[in-house]
Order: sequence, then C-alpha cells, then structure tokens
Amino acid sequence: MEHHESILILDFGSQYTQLIARRIRELGVYSEIKPFDISIDEIKDRRPKGIILSGGPSSVYGANAPLPSPAIFQLDLPVLGICYGLQVIAHMKNGQVDPASRREYGRAALDILDQSDLFYRIDQRTQVWMSHGDHLTKLPKGFQVIANTDNAPIAAIRHTRERIFGIQFHPEVVHTMQGKEILSNFLYRICRCEGNWNASSFAEATVQSIREKLGDQHALCALSGGVDSTVAAYLVGKAIGDRLTCIFVDTGLLRHQEAKQVSDYFKNAPFHFKAIDASAQFLSKLEGVYDPEQKRKIIGNEFIRVFEKEAKQLGDIKYLVQGTLYPDVIESVSTKGPSATIKSHHNVGGLPEKMGLSLIEPLRELFKDEVRRVGRELNITDVILKRHPFPGPGLAVRILGEITRERIEILQPADHIFIEELVRNDLYDHIWQAFAVLLPVKSVGVMGDERTYENTIALRAVTSLDGMTADWADIPHSVLAHISNRIINEIKGVNRVVYDISSKPPSTIEWE
Ligand code: XMP
Repeated sequence: MEHHESILILDFGSQYTQLIARRIRELGVYSEIKPFDISIDEIKDRRPKGIILSGGPSSVYGANAPLPSPAIFQLDLPVLGICYGLQVIAHMKNGQVDPASRREYGRAALDILDQSDLFYRIDQRTQVWMSHGDHLTKLPKGFQVIANTDNAPIAAIRHTRERIFGIQFHPEVVHTMQGKEILSNFLYRICRCEGNWNASSFAEATVQSIREKLGDQHALCALSGGVDSTVAAYLVGKAIGDRLTCIFVDTGLLRHQEAKQVSDYFKNAPFHFKAIDASAQFLSKLEGVYDPEQKRKIIGNEFIRVFEKEAKQLGDIKYLVQGTLYPDVIESVSTKGPSATIKSHHNVGGLPEKMGLSLIEPLRELFKDEVRRVGRELNITDVILKRHPFPGPGLAVRILGEITRERIEILQPADHIFIEELVRNDLYDHIWQAFAVLLPVKSVGVMGDERTYENTIALRAVTSLDGMTADWADIPHSVLAHISNRIINEIKGVNRVVYDISSKPPSTIEWE
C-alpha cells in the first residue's frame, strides 16, 4: 500500500522486529518490515524517510551472516542500526565486532555522551535493555561514540557527517526506559517525519490506493465475520462498492446464532454480501471422522469447493481480498512447523493460484489491535471488533471425536453460556479466547435420585498477545461455579464441567 511517509525496517530475524514497527506507528509514522535482502530498487520504490536495521540472532562474522545491500548507505537516507543492526553497520564500514568478554543481557545503565540528536533530551544516565553476545571493539572510520555502558565502551555510534546511527540496546522494548523518546528523535529530529499516520489516515490512504489499483475490476472475499476479514472487506467495499462480493459460508460449525448475526449485520454493508448455508454438505462429509487433521482437511477442501462454485457464477473476477495480518505473514514464513499450516486453509489457500486471482491484503502490515482501531474508524460494530478469534474449522475441532448435529447442539449453548457470563462479569475483553469443548468421554453423575451417565464440557479461556503463547485465564472461582451450574442445569446431556489450566506451550489453545 502507498503511504506517503514511511520508515522501512529491514528484518534480520530478531524476535523484537515487529515491536519496532509497532512503536514507530504508535509514534505516528507508518512503518513496514521487509526482509534484510530486499533489493535496492524495491527500497527506492517505497521512498522511505529512513531505514532501520533490526536486531537478529546472527553474528556478523558467522558463515552466511545476513547483510543488506551496501547501497543502502548511498541513498542519502538516515539509517539506524539496532543491536545486530549496529554490528552490521560497523562490519560494513570496517569497524570491529567481537564476542563480548562479559555478555550483557538484560538491563544496563547507558551513559550518554552526546545529546544533540538521537539522544536529544534523554537523561544523561538511562536504563536500557541489552540482548546480544557481540560488541563493537573498534569504531568504524568516520564514526564517533555517543553512548557507553560499563561493559560496552561503544554502545551507540553516529557518523560524523552522514545520518547513520547505531545502538547496541533495544529501544523498542519497555525495559528501555526512554526507548520511545529515542525512536521519536530518530523519526522527527533525524528523518524529519511529519507524523501523519493513524488509523483514520491509514483507512483513507488504503481505500484510495485500492480504488486506483482495482479500477473498474471486480473482487471477491471470503467473509467469516471475524475482525480481520470484516475490516479488509470494508476497506475494499469503501473503495469499489458493489464490485466487491463477499461470500459467507455457514459450515454448520459456527457458534450459537453466529450465522444469523453475521448475515443480519452485513445486510447494510458497503459491498455485495451473499450468505450460503452449506451446513448439510459439511456435516455429511464429516460423518464418522475422528482425526483432527482429517477434519481440517475435509473442511478446507469443502470450503474451497463451495467458494469456487459461487465465484464461478459471478463471472469475471480478478482479485481476492484477504484479511491477512502481519502475525499471519510471519507465521507462514517462519520455520516453526505446524503453525505454518494452521492458517492456510481458512484463507482459502491454493484458490488464488487455481482461479488465477491476485491477492489484495490491505492489513498485511498491521497487528490485531491496529486492525481493531481501523475497524472503529470504519464504524464497524464492537460486536465484531471485539469478538474472540475463531478457527476456520470451527466447532469441528472443539467437538472431540465424531461430529453430529446432536453434539453440536450440546456444545453451542454451553459455549454461549460461558461467553455470556464472561461478558456479564466484564471478563470477556480481557481474555484472548474463551470457548467450550465437548469431550468424547462420558462420566457418572447424580441428578435428583437418578444416576446419570453423560457428557463432559471443558471450559478453555486464555490470555495472550498473539496466540503464539498463552496463559490460562484466572477466572474467579465464583464465576466458574456459576457457569458450571448453568451449563449442567440448562443443557440436557451434560453432567460435568471442568476448567482447563494448561498454558501454551506445552498445550495448544484449541484441544484439537
Ligand atoms: P493453537 O490451538 O494452535 O491455536 O494454540 C492458536 C490460534 O490459532 C487458531 N487455530 C486455527 N485457526 N484454522 C484456523 O483458522 C485452524 O485450523 C486453527 N487451529 C487453531 C486458534 O483458535 C488460536 O487462535
């Protein structure tokens, strides 16, 4: 997407790279992350106001150490190297980097030697966060030291004439007390940014650029009613109106009343909306299937089949809109194994190639909370913006064992009671995901004078920032007790409720 003012972050693999991007946007400047080896022409095309070299796990002297094109120093753009990024600058400018005799991990006191630009108005001594084993031992030619710590005599450098800076610590993490001010100095004092980025300007610029890109072409979107696909659809809908068709597939595996709510809501959306009830088809395909991966595969394939059929009827379509977020992008490019495949199918994976569609992914650079803010600018209801994430395969992976209509009818209301009570107790918005799971075990109970032999519902609620790691949510016992009572009393076929107290890792959020 075109945004007139931006900072380009070259990623060398640090776990903090995404945080840098986010801090910069919080400071009012649009920023994008690209791989460290992006070509110089691509960099020029983006016309950034400055470049940041991220941290990374490598050592500049290691075999195949990642290095950017040397031409980045010839663009007359400010460059800031952070941690490994500083070492990259030192290495490429003929300084010296060595393993530190005393590794510095964690908090350190930084002494500022020069407060003229990068450290403008930063305390003379300030706490920073270090996390790297290598240190600069010799200053590259033309550079000066602008800060040090007890263990690192060269903790920050600046070129004497050009706008090239490097810092050994991480300004993007909260443990660096004045990190935001330091980044702000880079943006506003050094790169001379204006700071015009916010959710509303993002929405405006995005709508404008989609309109230009699509011209009078038509686009298609698989709308789930979740935050991501909804916000993406609204942006495109605002750009091209009815030439966007959003297809909502009811798999029969959605939450209580979800299909109806979604259909009602999108009746007034700024695009053409079509809901398809394919539940019978999905459920028949899932008959007798127990294996979780098998369930996922069947649902993925079926989804594509339904979607493709609808798309064909619409005729000439060139684009497919997807609500891919930045974490999805890194998940799918990472080598983390299973997580790479997790999101593939609900984004109708494989379909774009098959149908010759080009992708429109307006949210590709954003994080969930930023997407919510954009959604708010577009006046999308909080019911959608605050809704917990829901997996593509839906209740199929929350009904352990076989999926039948009867079992769906036990799980849906149980889940609904859980969610309703969380909302009532003001807990829902503090939880990343909460849901009920129907277990494939029956157990003995007693109701009145009768012995029962019925189903077990497990309640799962976790707090998390991105779904990659998660802690079980500490819901007050009184609330849990009330939820348990309601579920057992109100839902026929359930005589036991348990609460899941496992974190991720080693458990996962979903049970299948
Ligand atoms: P796990 O269970 O792996 O889940 O800790 C992490 C996040 O991913 C969601 N999830 C899925 N989403 N298709 C999806 O679209 C899937 O097959 C799938 N499996 C898990 C899960 O709900 C959580 O938010």
